[in-house]
Formats: sequence, C-alpha cells, structure tokens
Amino acid sequence: MQSLLNKKIVLGISGGIAAYKTPELARLLMQEGASVQVVMTQAAQQFVTPVTMQALTGNPVFTSQWDSSIANNMAHIELSRSADIILIAPSSADLMAKLSLGLADDLLSTLCLARDCPLLLAPAMNKQMWEHAATQRSVQRLQDDGSVLLGPASGTQACGEVGMGRMLEPHEIAEQVIAFFQKKVLTGKKVLITAGPTFEAIDPVRGITNHSSGKMGFAIARAALEAGAQVHLIAGPCELSTPLEATGKIIRTNIVSAKEMHTATLAATDCDVFFAVAAVADWGIAKPAKEKLKRQGKEAPSIEFVANPDILQDVAKTVKFKGGKSYPYCVGFAAESTDLEKHANDKRQRKGIPMIVGNIGPDTFGSDTNQLIVIDDSGSKKIAQAEKLHLARQLIQLVAKKI
Ligand code: C5P
Repeated sequence: MQSLLNKKIVLGISGGIAAYKTPELARLLMQEGASVQVVMTQAAQQFVTPVTMQALTGNPVFTSQWDSSIANNMAHIELSRSADIILIAPSSADLMAKLSLGLADDLLSTLCLARDCPLLLAPAMNKQMWEHAATQRSVQRLQDDGSVLLGPASGTQACGEVGMGRMLEPHEIAEQVIAFFQKKVLTGKKVLITAGPTFEAIDPVRGITNHSSGKMGFAIARAALEAGAQVHLIAGPCELSTPLEATGKIIRTNIVSAKEMHTATLAATDCDVFFAVAAVADWGIAKPAKEKLKRQGKEAPSIEFVANPDILQDVAKTVKFKGGKSYPYCVGFAAESTDLEKHANDKRQRKGIPMIVGNIGPDTFGSDTNQLIVIDDSGSKKIAQAEKLHLARQLIQLVAKKI
C-alpha cells in the first residue's frame, strides 16, 4: 500500500543548486501515491526547468502569480486550497527570510501566506548563510508560526565548503513527509527495539547466526518514529540503513553477539515500550578461538556451546509500576514451525510479558511482507498480509492503546 495515497502536495522550488535533486523528490512522492503540483520561483528556473517538472509530475507548472490560465486569476488561493501540504525543497535563505516576515511578492510566497495547510521546508544553502543570525531568526520565526523544518544536514556543499546547510537527500525528505501524515500516538514516548540477528564467533572468520534480515525490527523503529516517539534501535549485523536518521530522534547501537545485545539493551531499559524483535542466538560459543581453526585431516572440531542470556526475559524483570501501568511495556516476537498461537502464548506467559507477536509467514525471512498474530491477555488478533512497514504501523497503534 502506498503511504501518500490521495495526498495532494504543492511542491515549491526556490533558487538553489540543490534544486537538481527536486525532480527525484517529486518522483518519490508520486511513487507513494501523492499528486504533485509544482510551483517555482524565478531563481529556481536557473537550476531546473519547468518542462522537466511538468514532464515528471504530469501537471502544469506554475511560475507566476499573473498566470491568466487560472479562470479567476487566483492561483495563490486555488493551489493552496486543494493541497494537504506545501513542501518547499530547496528552501533558500532568501525565501525563508521572506516567509518569516509574511512577504508575498511572487507566486510561491503568496501561496504560503494564503495557505490553510501545513508548510514543510527543506532548507539548502551555504553554511555561512545557514549560520547567519538573520537566517537563524527566520528559522525560529517560521517554527514559532508552525512551519516544519526538514533538515538541513551537514556535509560537503556545492561551494566546496563542509558544514551545515545541505538539503536532505530526496529519499530522506520523502520519508519525513510520509512520517508527517502518520498519527502521532507515541509523542513523548521512548521506544527500545532489538532487531536483526546476532552472530556468535567460533574463530576470527567463522561463526553461527540466525536467519533474520532485520526488516521487521527496522520497520517498527520507523513506525514508532512516525508516531512521534524517540527510538533506541539495537541492531545485530544487517545491511539496513537507519530509518528517519535525519530527524535526530533515533539512536542506533550496532552489536554483534547476543551478550553485547544483552548489555546494550539492559542499559537502555528506561523507556515506555520494548520490542524484542531480534532473532537472538540461543547459544554462544564457550571459548571462541583467537586464531583461525586449521583443518585437521577429516576430523571435524567439536565446539562447546553455552546458553546466552534471554534479553527479553531480563528486561521483563526490570519492569516498574507507575500510575497503574507497567514500564516498559514488553512486546516479544515468536517464529514457530507448528501450532504458532499456542506456542507463542506459552512463551508470553513463560517470559512474563503482556504481549507477543507471532510471525504467520509463510515467507518471513528477508521478505518485505508478512502476516502477524498479536496475542495479549484479552486474546488474539490477526494483522493481514501486508508490507512490514504497514504491519508495524498497525502494531504501533495497538501498543499505543496499552500504555
Ligand atoms: O525464546 P524465543 O527465542 O523463542 O523467544 C523469542 C522472543 O524472545 C523474541 O522476542 C526474541 O527477540 C526474544 N529473545 C531475547 N533473547 C534471547 C532469545 C530470544 O530477547 N536470548
């Protein structure tokens, strides 16, 4: 399912070299189901042409408040009235200064003043311009007036300098726009998540691990951020990028072994919800070899295992009671090969946790989709086959009601 279905976005472009990335942004928004209406300033047209934006969006591009093709000549009102948001990327220092003062001397700034929908700004400028007291004043004013800033990021700039002021990458802007539209059911809450596999070293080049792509845990991290939470993600070895990293609302701790995951997790239990999504190795290697084990004819080495700590069970033991509720609210995951609901519920009781989520599958590992069964004291509820992000959003809604 697309995350921006039926959303109407007015995409404003002001004059900055980062405008070369805006066509890609328009495509990403449209891929998620949004309809995109582009409005460009005069300066923006020095960097990207209206023809490019028109060809990509399939909509005429507006560049002037004097456009006679709008029947009543009220482009500034017409365009913003039908929009769910106005998103400006790149948003130049000049445009932000203007908007912060309520000036309206071209179509884009007039549209912003005449709007009755939220305004999201993705600033892009040289670091000196960003750091200038005048720009910082504009930013503060715009935020006080309710505008949402997406970025900027720090890094190499078109001018060759390095510093704050780079526009976020198109996929980061699109991710934040999608997040903007999600229900904020976890505002002010802290969420701790374990995700991915663990890896138990046998020697410096070998080890044992579990099947786990980390996708479900990362999807829950993204859905929790979208819902307004602060997230601490403790991740085993996996290739996934940190969701909504540019918001600064997620901390990621990378670990390798179950013991490392145990230590990192137990140090972070001051939170409202804990999702144990990681596929933790049940056994570690008693004495990992310091040097690579050499082949010795046809004989195989014997390896001694030791039981790893149960992270979820140990977190459940730290639960405190506050205002009639227990914190953190612990959610476990279960992948079973038979009798899922019974085994998952037994596990929930054995581990002393209020909720467990069973992976119904069929193709859980590495897949982008899954089906879940959520079991708590009140019974069980299935969440139908969907992309993991959509499952995660539904799970977050259920958990939010519990805390
Ligand atoms: O005991 P089992 O591995 O079947 O239970 C699965 C649940 O327990 C998952 O939520 C998993 O993240 C968690 N778990 C854990 N530490 C372990 C083993 C499992 O947190 N050592």
